[in-house]
Amino acid sequence: MEPLRAAEEFVSSARDEGRRWLDTSEVDLYSTLRWLDLPESHLDEVMARYGDLRRDPVFGPLVGGMVERLVNDRGDLDQPLPIWPDFDEFGDLGRLWWIYVVGLATPSLVAYHESRGLPPDVTRRTVSVLARHANLHERKWGTPGVDAGWWMIPVIRGELVQVGSLQFHRYHLGVSVLTPRPWFTRDEATTLGPGFRDGDEAWGVHIPDGTDLSESALEETWERARDVLHRAWSPSTRRLATLQSWMMDSRLAEFLGPDSRIVRFQRQFHAGARWGHDVDNVVEFVFRQPASHLPGLVACTRVQAAVLEVLRSGDSWRDGVGWRDFDRPDVR
Ligand SMILES: CC(C)(COP(=O)(O)OP(=O)(O)OC[C@H]1O[C@@H](n2cnc3c(N)ncnc32)[C@H](O)[C@@H]1OP(=O)(O)O)[C@@H](O)C(=O)NCCC(=O)NCCS
Repeated sequence: MEPLRAAEEFVSSARDEGRRWLDTSEVDLYSTLRWLDLPESHLDEVMARYGDLRRDPVFGPLVGGMVERLVNDRGDLDQPLPIWPDFDEFGDLGRLWWIYVVGLATPSLVAYHESRGLPPDVTRRTVSVLARHANLHERKWGTPGVDAGWWMIPVIRGELVQVGSLQFHRYHLGVSVLTPRPWFTRDEATTLGPGFRDGDEAWGVHIPDGTDLSESALEETWERARDVLHRAWSPSTRRLATLQSWMMDSRLAEFLGPDSRIVRFQRQFHAGARWGHDVDNVVEFVFRQPASHLPGLVACTRVQAAVLEVLRSGDSWRDGVGWRDFDRPDVR
């Protein structure tokens, strides 16, 4: 379905109630967006178009309804997580709409984090996602907007939290949209036991653009995440941290050698025997270009050279899957 229609359908039950979010004053929206460190280059345009948004028959109800629905869905991990392309082709408000959604929803997200006992610095790091994706949009297209805007959804729903260098997404294995695929077979998972089975709660690990993957930063990240997230959502059974990423292609070790931060990070996970095949994601994350630009791409870094060598040989990139225990060993 065309993404705008799909988004309208997603918010349809929340559309009427959602009007209240657009009553947020300009002063309040501006101060939230400043607190979110939205780039200066974006602030002027976003504020100048806020009046248009409130009057717009398409994006007004969409923004209000989206905030309403995401706030209502908080805590329900099995709600759908739609992965939409960005809406830039639908005009200026389509390009900016995720900024309004995040700006209007942030005060309630902050209150939710407080209610779970998450420390303020963790909240702050979590919401840095907006500025990072706004910067990426500007880098790619030269205009204000939000790159991969759908990624704001789990953040606003309160199920994705950044601690230190990594983002942690609470999800149900085998059920949630972002569950690793391929995973263990049902028989293998049954043998492995709690933590590996369909429906078990897990933490999906994600790597923000430009993050610090040094050994010391990661050690601090795991330790703090275990402490903070364990207190906010205490485990009922063994919980895994899982990672599915282009960074988990085991061939990277040959290309980059043992000193690479990516290779050292890979080794913090047990590697699954299976992987997904990928071209689009690796080109996006390594070149910030669509895969259709592949023939003209030029490598400036060792990872870029590795990706070009593999893809131009006709092979696909391996979207590897890894896991490690998340909580302390006494949680079984
Ligand atoms: C996370 C990240 C900062 C790690 O980079 P790093 O700390 O430099 O990693 P390494 O030390 O292993 O880098 C080894 C080499 O690969 C390059 N490299 C690493 N990640 C790269 C990337 N995403 N794009 C281009 N080059 C990259 C480095 O510049 C270095 O090359 P050089 O020695 O020629 O300068 C980087 O990969 C990144 O910003 N990724 C974007 C987010 C992402 O991909 N998330 C995962 C989504 S599934």
